[in-house]
Amino acid sequence: MYPWLRPLLFALDAERSHNFTLGLLHAAVRIPGMKAAMRCTGSSRTADLPVEAMGLHFANPVGLAAGLDKEACCAGVWHALGFGFAELGTVTPLPQPGNPRPRLFRLPADEALINRMGFNSGGLSEFLTNLTRGGRHGIIGINLGKNKDTSVERATEDYLIGLRAVYAHADYITVNISSPNTPGLRTLQDEAPLAAMLATLKAEQAALAIVHQRRVPLVLKIAPDLADEAIDAIARLVIQHRFDGVMATNTTLARDGLRNHPHAQEVGGLSGQPLRRAAHHVVARLYQSLRGHTPIIGVGGIFSAEDAWERLVAGADLVQIYSSLIYRGPGVVPAIVAGLADKLRESGQPTLQQAIAQARLSKKSDAHA
Ligand code: FNR
Repeated sequence: MYPWLRPLLFALDAERSHNFTLGLLHAAVRIPGMKAAMRCTGSSRTADLPVEAMGLHFANPVGLAAGLDKEACCAGVWHALGFGFAELGTVTPLPQPGNPRPRLFRLPADEALINRMGFNSGGLSEFLTNLTRGGRHGIIGINLGKNKDTSVERATEDYLIGLRAVYAHADYITVNISSPNTPGLRTLQDEAPLAAMLATLKAEQAALAIVHQRRVPLVLKIAPDLADEAIDAIARLVIQHRFDGVMATNTTLARDGLRNHPHAQEVGGLSGQPLRRAAHHVVARLYQSLRGHTPIIGVGGIFSAEDAWERLVAGADLVQIYSSLIYRGPGVVPAIVAGLADKLRESGQPTLQQAIAQARLSKKSDAHA
């Protein structure tokens, strides 16, 4: 169905088409039988490929990346489409409009997007109303940001507000300090502010775990535009503060290898195919520095089962997609999972995680040969 739907959607301005599609999905799940129909094309066509990570059980390792369902308006849909998990948000404590439009651009020749949305958010209160009203299925991550008007020095306060508000509703929580579209946000990746922030958030997690009798893992989402030494420093802090996961990566400020396109130099974060190599590198470097202490969620330029497999073998435990869903449609989810299931069969191992471990070992021994 997507091959004929895509030209219609692509005829609209990118953000209007995004809102239209989410509106359709939101309305569709309220029609009796529609969710079952989605399952027929999505989850029931998606192979069962269980993965354990961060103490959670995922039906498959392919998740929806943050930014697509910012307001949690379709939380019940993603599982039906076959995703192993869905990350909702970024949500900021208070409502804010984000940057002026246009702020989302397609680069079809590169299967890429540039966005400078700037954390447009209805705020925590609307987010939680949507989430609790819509019903949720499968594993849900909630991605937290800070308001633009909150200074970078006081950013931790916004993350604390978010953490307390969403704790009871999330299976894991992502601390997003890597959007390129909120001024100064990425400086929170520097060693001193990061160390202070991780310590504060972990202390709050411990307190909330007692109140709620449940430990919700905290994941740090980082940028692709980091030097190797900076990645190593982040990994050291993540281990030291026992953060529960690292997500790599957000969109990039780089414009390497883009075809000549009217939107190629738009300000914002680039995602999709051109991000693949950089995002892969960050995962591989993180894996080396984290030495198996902390799970990694790989995101950026994953369009096929081969891309997903390479990212998993490079060090990721789970992967997420955004741009490939826009360019290839929802069929990309069962296709990626089916390809990973083939890899598992070929490996002769009992689980995907064992197949990945085997592939990592043989890659290592090839490198030493
Ligand atoms: C994003 N992304 C994003 N990430 C995040 O942590 N919070 C957010 O609010 C958003 N918003 C957002 C909007 C749009 C329009 C895009 C295209 C992307 C980044 C996203 O989660 C992911 O990290 C990147 O898009 C890289 O993955 P893909 O798109 O290459 O699969």
